[in-house]
Amino acid sequence: MFVCMCMAVTEAGIRACLHAGATTTEQVSERSGAGTGCGGCLETVELLVEGGSILHPDTEPRRGCRLPRSA
Ligand code: FES
Repeated sequence: MFVCMCMAVTEAGIRACLHAGATTTEQVSERSGAGTGCGGCLETVELLVEGGSILHPDTEPRRGCRLPRSA
């Protein structure tokens, strides 16, 4: 699932950055490019950095996501 449309960064790409040692949203942005375009995905990147999930919107807020919610 794409998190950052501007830079075509997926959730897996962000998790790879976290697995490789990134611990902050800024570090993930530097390494992946996520959030370096319009910035609209930064809250979602932050959610992932904090250990949240964008796949379970009922249990985790979809902060910053500009994609429409599915019914
Ligand atoms: S959607 Fe990530 S920078 Fe625009």
